[in-house]
Amino acid sequence: MVYLDHHATTPVDPRVVEAMLPYFTVAFGNATSRTHRFGWEAREAVERARRQVALLIGAGAREVVFTSGATEANHLAIAGAAAAAPTDRRHVVTVATEHRAVLEPCRQLGASGWTVTELPVDPTGLVDLDAVARAITPGTALVSVMLANNEIGVLQAVAEIAPLAHARGALLHTDAVQALGRVPVDVAALGVDLASFSAHKLYGPKGVGALYVKRGVEKRLAAPVRGGGQERGLRGGTLNVPGIVGFGAACDVAGREMPDEARRVGALRDRLWQLLQERAGGVSMNGASAPRLPGNLNVRVAGIDGESLHVGLTEIAVSSGAACTSAEPSHVLMALGLDKTAALASLRFGLGRGTTAADIDRAASHVADVVAHVRRSSPVARLAAAGAGR
Ligand SMILES: Cc1ncc(COP(=O)(O)O)c(C=O)c1O
Repeated sequence: MVYLDHHATTPVDPRVVEAMLPYFTVAFGNATSRTHRFGWEAREAVERARRQVALLIGAGAREVVFTSGATEANHLAIAGAAAAAPTDRRHVVTVATEHRAVLEPCRQLGASGWTVTELPVDPTGLVDLDAVARAITPGTALVSVMLANNEIGVLQAVAEIAPLAHARGALLHTDAVQALGRVPVDVAALGVDLASFSAHKLYGPKGVGALYVKRGVEKRLAAPVRGGGQERGLRGGTLNVPGIVGFGAACDVAGREMPDEARRVGALRDRLWQLLQERAGGVSMNGASAPRLPGNLNVRVAGIDGESLHVGLTEIAVSSGAACTSAEPSHVLMALGLDKTAALASLRFGLGRGTTAADIDRAASHVADVVAHVRRSSPVARLAAAGAGR
């Protein structure tokens, strides 16, 4: 099976595994044990990883807070900022196409009396900057806008949103999970206060992530997970030393290889799009013409039953939406204005480090065969496909 679902997760790079291994067995110490070598060794490894993550995102090492992943990082940013916000700031602004790991904590705030603005997007998936400016009020505590979308790969103009949020005294958070390792991410240039990352999206292990907390912004966060005071009190719990080491190593590799890899993967993505148009026909790109991740392609297939399409695709691993919610029509595609049928008949391709030109050729042929088969077996689909493009 050809794996084309790198937005869901990525395999751990063998170089990352190698870096992690000693921290399971030999150097297994608790990074907060201060009285012996085992603890010091673990601590040193964690601090090295912190510098590696910081380097890739353009932050200072002290601005990196390790978490169990991006869901927790988003929660720390959103629930943490809300809990510390002054009582006259009980409003949060976000976007309809955010990952549920952002939408859910925002909605949780809504359930506890906050006002939540979920801004719509245009048909390409981008939020309108004037709408963002209008939505932010002196009562806004936090604005959360993702950098790269996990389904359609489009890149929001986060750097342009920063002055809008700051002019009103609000904090700006970005879920930058899908961008890291795929396109350059510089938190200082973006002007964000908080940014979430996850190791397993860039060939690191699952269950480890980080929140960038701009220097000074920690005073505006009340940590939801407290305990032994780890991570300067922002995230309690024994540190996942092997995971953190793996995250650092993954950032190190990505920093060195990203420019070439982005070019290579971008060319393969363009080839996939070309081949799908030639061989399958009746396909349109979701989020077309917006700036996007090099390895992302999201296409809808006209006049086809989404379920038959997905069931038929036995030779490639793709998805119809975020991995956690694949049974439902994607809320991201619905926000672009697609109806339920079109959203379900959409395919998210995520190309990655292991993807080859042969994989792309095979994937395009397989999709074309399955589409043709589904169209042949459904008269309704044939009629609709004949009308596609109008
Ligand atoms: C944009 C985005 N945010 C957050 C997450 C959640 O990350 P994690 O799996 O580390 O909790 C994901 C991954 O599914 C994602 O794609």
